[in-house]
Amino acid sequence: MQSLGGTGALMLGAALIKKAGFGGGVIFVPDPTWGNHHQIFEEHGFKVESYPYYRSDTRRADSKAAKAFFEGLCQNSVVLLHTVCHNPTGADFSMKEWRDIAEIFRERRLVPFFDFAYQGFKEGIEADREPMKLFIENGCYVLIASSFSKNASLYSKRTGALTVVAGSEGEASKVEGALKRVARTRYSNPPSDGALIVREILRSDELRKLWEEEVSQMRERIKETRRRFALELKKLGLDGSFVTDQHGIFSYTPLTPSEVQELEERGVFMLPSGRISIAGLNIRNIPTVAKHIAEVSKGWPKI
Ligand SMILES: Cc1ncc(COP(=O)(O)O)c(C=O)c1O
Repeated sequence: MQSLGGTGALMLGAALIKKAGFGGGVIFVPDPTWGNHHQIFEEHGFKVESYPYYRSDTRRADSKAAKAFFEGLCQNSVVLLHTVCHNPTGADFSMKEWRDIAEIFRERRLVPFFDFAYQGFKEGIEADREPMKLFIENGCYVLIASSFSKNASLYSKRTGALTVVAGSEGEASKVEGALKRVARTRYSNPPSDGALIVREILRSDELRKLWEEEVSQMRERIKETRRRFALELKKLGLDGSFVTDQHGIFSYTPLTPSEVQELEERGVFMLPSGRISIAGLNIRNIPTVAKHIAEVSKGWPKI
């Protein structure tokens, strides 16, 4: 179902699972997660609880802790998962870890709600769907919030979709009816222009090829920026290997709030959590940013 961007897809999904009574009014989100997840689900009357996701010592996703947590959840619990390019950390599960997690979801009959805001930014438009396919093959009831804000640069057109994989055709048509009611009472119809652009691209072999090439250029630029940033940090004696292991636009760094403040005074900006925007780095500013980080940071791991 068409939605008002990825945010609108999350909102539709929240309203749907609330109506269906999944999870008993509780949703589990990764710690940390995109700040708006808490707000969207709270607005729909959910109690938002966190599951362990990230290890600050390794700067990588903590699949061991996440799996142990999922194994303890009751049947029908709803769990929000970032398919690729986790925001804010940039740390994703490996395919092997996804396979284990999908198996836990099948055994415990958990409901995965995927946030798929960065399709194409990790490995490719098709490849980035792989984790979700495991859950669908395992027979899970799956929700997917897609966004065309980043991968088609349609941010201001509010273009996205909520996909629900239900257990049967009858169930799917009930879901569609429920979603139409949610949209009708909140905004009637979504604007059509962004969706028409996406439809035109997806229906034409030529335009689709061009789009995939452009997404691939964005992805490769981010990967190259990560490589150059890690290299520059290495020259200064700092370990930037986690930067190249992470994916997408964001990277969680070991910088503390006071170091972030100090960097701000030097003209280098990021969130107080130490999350940097990799997309904001380029060949010209990387050496300067790395130099300021090396001068300010006390906890950044050394090589
Ligand atoms: C993880 C995540 N989900 C959803 C969204 C929202 O996407 P949209 O701009 O399409 O509403 C964002 C945007 O920043 C995001 O980072």
